[in-house]
Amino acid sequence: MSSGTAGRKGWLSERVPLDLEALKVYSNEPVPNHLARWWWCLGGTPALLFVVQVVTGILLTFYYVPSPASAYESVRRITHDIPYGWYLRSLHRWSSHFMIVAVWLHMMRVFFTGAYRRPRELNWMIGMGLLGVTLLFGFTGYSLLYEQISYWGITVATNLTEAVPWLGTHLARLLRGGDAVGDHTLTRFFIFHIGVLPTAITILLALHILLVRLHGVTPFEFARDRARPQGHKTYPFYPDHVLIEVIMGIGLVILLSCLAILFPAGLGEPANPLRTPAHIKPEWYFFWTFRWLKLVGLTASVLSIGAVALLAFVWPFVDAWIRRRRPGSELSVWIGASAVLCLLGLTVWEALAAH
Ligand code: HEM
Repeated sequence: MSSGTAGRKGWLSERVPLDLEALKVYSNEPVPNHLARWWWCLGGTPALLFVVQVVTGILLTFYYVPSPASAYESVRRITHDIPYGWYLRSLHRWSSHFMIVAVWLHMMRVFFTGAYRRPRELNWMIGMGLLGVTLLFGFTGYSLLYEQISYWGITVATNLTEAVPWLGTHLARLLRGGDAVGDHTLTRFFIFHIGVLPTAITILLALHILLVRLHGVTPFEFARDRARPQGHKTYPFYPDHVLIEVIMGIGLVILLSCLAILFPAGLGEPANPLRTPAHIKPEWYFFWTFRWLKLVGLTASVLSIGAVALLAFVWPFVDAWIRRRRPGSELSVWIGASAVLCLLGLTVWEALAAH
C-alpha cells in the first residue's frame, strides 16, 4: 500500500472513529439457508421497490406542480415534453403496484409460516403499520394526477372517512382541508405523499428491521437441511445475502423498465368537479373495499373493514389465545386462507363488474 493511501485511511478513521472489525462481525451475522429463496426473504422486495420509489419520486417532484390549476398540466408535461419523464413516471407507477403486491405476499409468508408468533408480535404490528402506509402512498399518489377518475376517487374516499364513528367528520375535514374536496385537498395529499408518509415509513422500517435483527428471522428446518452439518445450515449476511438482494434489485429494475416501455403510464381526462363520471373506480388494490362498500353500504363497510383491520393488528395475541385453548389447532391457517380468498374474490368481482 502506498504511503498516500495509508495516510488517507488514517485521516478518515481519525475523523470517523468507527470500529470496522466490530462492524464486520455485526453485519456478517449468519442467516438461515431458507432465506436464500425469494419466498422466504420477500421482505427485502418492498424495501428495494421503496428505493426505486424514492429515486423516481424525487425526480418527478422537480416538475410536478401541486395546485389544482396546474397539477394535471404538469403531469401531462412530464409524460409528453420532459425528456424521459414518461419513463420515470411509468417506473414510479409500476413500482408502486409491485410494492403493494410484495407487501401483501410478504405478509402472507409471515402469516402462513406463523413467523408473527411470540416473541415477534410487535413486529407484526409494525408490519401492519407498514401495510397501511404503503396503501396510503398508493392512494395519495394516484390522487395527485388530478384526472377525472382520481379526483372523484378522493371524493368517494373522503366521504368514506366521514362514516368513521366519532372522528369521521374531523378526519374528513383534516384530509380535505374543508367541507368539500377543493384547493387545500391537493396540497395536503401532496404533503402526505412526499413528507408525512415517507417519514412514517422510514421510522417504521427502521424499527421493523431493528427487531428482525434483534430476534433473527424465525428458524425453519427443512428435510434437506437436517442432514447437513451445523455450520452448513446458515450463510453469511454479508456478502452472500446482500448479493442476493442486489441481484433481485437489478432484476426488478429490468422488469419494471420492460413494463414501463411496453405499458407506459397513461393519463385520463382532467378533473371536472362539476361533472360526476358515470362509473367511479379506485386503483385495483382498493377494489375489494369498493365492492364491499357496494354490497353492504357506507357505514357497515367502514365499521366492518375497521373491525377486520383491528383484528389483523392484534392477530398474534388472538392466535396465541386460540392455541392455548386448542393446542395444535390449524384454525389460524383456515382463517388466513379464508381472508385471502375473500380479498381476492372481492377484487376479481369488482374488476370484472362493469360498474
Ligand atoms: C414496506 C413493507 C415491509 C418491508 C420492507 C418489510 C421488510 C422485512 C424484512 C427485510 C424482513 C426479514 C425477513 C424477510 O425478508 O421475510 C421482515 C420480516 C418480518 N416482517 Fe416485514 N416488511 C414489510 C411489511 C410487513 C408486513 C405488512 C408485515 C405483517 C403485517 C410484516 C411482518 C414481519 C414479521 C413478523 C417479520 C419476521 C419474520 C421472521 O422472523 O421470519 N412485515 N420484514
